[in-house]
Order: sequence, then C-alpha cells, then structure tokens
Amino acid sequence: MPAISSHDQHISHWLLLCLSLIFVMVILGGVTRLTGSGLSMVNWHPIHGMVPPLTSGQWLEEFGNYQQSPEYQKINRDMNVDEFKSIFWFEYTHRMMGRLIGLVFLLPFLFFWWQNKIRPGLTPRLIIMFLLGGLQGLLGWYMVKSGLAANPHVSQYRLTAHLLSAILIYGFILWTILDLKQSLPYQKIHQSTVAAWRKISLGLITLLLITIVSGGFVAGLKAGVIFNTFPLMGGEWIPEGVAALSPWYLNLFENKVTVQFGHRLLAMTTGLMLFVWYIKGRIEFENPVLKRSFKLVGMMVIIQLLLGVSTLLMQVPVWLGAMHQAGALLLFSAMLINVHSLTRQ
Ligand code: HEM
Repeated sequence: MPAISSHDQHISHWLLLCLSLIFVMVILGGVTRLTGSGLSMVNWHPIHGMVPPLTSGQWLEEFGNYQQSPEYQKINRDMNVDEFKSIFWFEYTHRMMGRLIGLVFLLPFLFFWWQNKIRPGLTPRLIIMFLLGGLQGLLGWYMVKSGLAANPHVSQYRLTAHLLSAILIYGFILWTILDLKQSLPYQKIHQSTVAAWRKISLGLITLLLITIVSGGFVAGLKAGVIFNTFPLMGGEWIPEGVAALSPWYLNLFENKVTVQFGHRLLAMTTGLMLFVWYIKGRIEFENPVLKRSFKLVGMMVIIQLLLGVSTLLMQVPVWLGAMHQAGALLLFSAMLINVHSLTRQ
C-alpha cells in the first residue's frame, strides 16, 4: 500500500487548518446571530473596514452610523455606546475571520503552487475553493443588507443560503482532505455490496442537508422560542396554526409554527434513519476505517438530537444554540467521512 506523499501531507495539513478556521467561523456566525450583533456594522469596506474604531471619537462615529439604522431606531433605542461595542465586536471578529481565512488559504496556496507541490488535477479544485470563499463573503453581505431595510429582520432565505453555502464549502474541503489521505491503508471490500450502501449513504447525506436547511429556517425566523415543549407542541402532536398562511407552501418557509414542526419531524426522521444506518453498518462491515466512520455517525446523531431538544426546551440560550450548530457541522462531517469511505472502496 503506497504511503501518503510528503507534499500531499503538507497540503492536507494546510487544508485541515483552513477547515478548522471555517468551523470556528461558522460557530462565530451563529453566536453573532444569537447575540443580535449581525446588523451592528452598517457598511462594508474590504480594506478600510479592517481597522476597528480605536479612539472614543471613532466609536461615537461608528455608533452614529448604527443609530441611523432601522434596527437601532426600532429595536435598540435604549442602547448606549458601551452596549454597542459588545455587539460590534462579534460582527467585526466574524468579518475579520473571513479575511484571515482568505489569507491563510491564498498565501500557502501560492507557495505550494510556486514550489510545484500540488498534485496534478488538484489546482483547479483549490482555485474553486478560493473563489467560493469570496462568494461566501458577498453572500454574507447580501444577507446583512436584508436586515438594514425598513423592517430590520434578516431574511431567513438569505440566512439559510449563507449557512448552507458555508457548509458546502466546508464539505468540499473535507472531501479533498479525505481524497489526499486516500493512499493510507484500507482494506478492499466486495464491490457489489458497497454500490448499494453508497447509494443509500448519498440519500442519507442529502436528507441531513435538508434537515440542516430546515434548521436554518428555524434560526432565521427565531422559531425556536415558541412551543418550548417536547415532543408535543402546545399539547398537540400537530400544532394549531400549521396551515395559517396561503398559498400553503409559504407555511414551510414563513410560518414559525410550521417551520419548527417541520424541523422536528425532519430531525427525528433523519436521526432515526442515521441511527439504524449506524447499527446496520457496524454489523455489515469488518473494515476498521469504515466501521469507525459508522460509529462516528451513530455517536454524533445521538449528541445532535439531545442538543436539539435541549436547545428547544431551554429557549435557545446562546451557548446551546451555538453547540447545536456545531453539532450539525460535526454530524455532517461524520456522514461525509462515511460516504467517502464507502465511495473509495
Ligand atoms: C439530525 C438532527 C438535527 C440537525 C442536523 C439540526 C440542525 C440544525 C441547524 C443547522 C440549525 C440552525 C443553526 C443556526 O443557524 O444557528 C438548527 C436550529 C435549531 N434546531 Fe435543530 N437540528 C437537529 C435536531 C433538532 C431537534 C431534535 C430539535 C428539537 C426538537 C431541534 C431544534 C432546533 C431549534 C430550536 C433550532 C433554532 C436554534 C437557534 O435559533 O439558534 N433540532 N438545527
């Protein structure tokens, strides 16, 4: 079995660093939203915006800009400059991390490329990753803009798009890292058995992504602070008001009751299916790498369900909301590792 080359090893370590930074960035984005900080910076300047206010005059100027915003005027009228500073720092750090990740990606990429260390075929993938990262920043600003309008509410559609695209970029990088490690020892398993498992694994990861999208809508509509009981909602299995909007499909995206109900339903179905998947996989396969990937899915799905129910029962405290989001990303990682280990057999 060929060992992983030292060039591939360097590249996978570098990508792993980028992946970890993206993980932190996603969670920080969640905390920014949960602390109501996301609309504190009303302008976007790629270079000039990197310097935060330093003197009290600059703070007053930044606060003055915020005071012109609908969020201040309609929701935060009592806020003083010190309170403003705390929300500002979350949003500022989130934006600065985006730039940091851009640099941590670009500079080593240019170095590896110049040194000819990138294996054939990988360069286009790396360039696409970089471009997607840039688009993610633009999408973030497009999301923020929706909340700077007369009604200071960030669009749940744009918030979910921003979350989903972050997760897809994260998945793309993780998949590439797993590809680079492909030459590590693996045992061959029977092709025809694997083909069927591979198809099911793709269906399951798609279902997981749909559950994540539905979670984005719960977060975007602040639908986690109603019906804080489980499993019943307002004493009912199917809560009142699920079909309040017309046409009916609007309920799926704009009705808090339906959106929370849908997330519960999807999460419990996905959770159950992934757990059965874990049990079946552990029985079916002998391959240790594959077995470990099933175990990871089984463990993460239980943690994620517990985190989801606790987040709901406790009415979404910031720390728990952030952990539930981290859990979604870790469960997605586990499932992606599982799909990858089935795909490459
Ligand atoms: C497979 C299991 C699950 C996955 C993958 C999942 C995923 C997610 C995601 C990605 C979010 C959005 C987080 C954000 O943008 O900050 C979310 C939000 C939420 N989820 Fe889940 N979830 C799962 C299970 C559950 C369960 C079982 C419940 C409760 C019964 C639940 C309740 C919530 C609530 C209340 C929120 C809103 C939290 C907030 O406002 O930050 N989730 N979920």
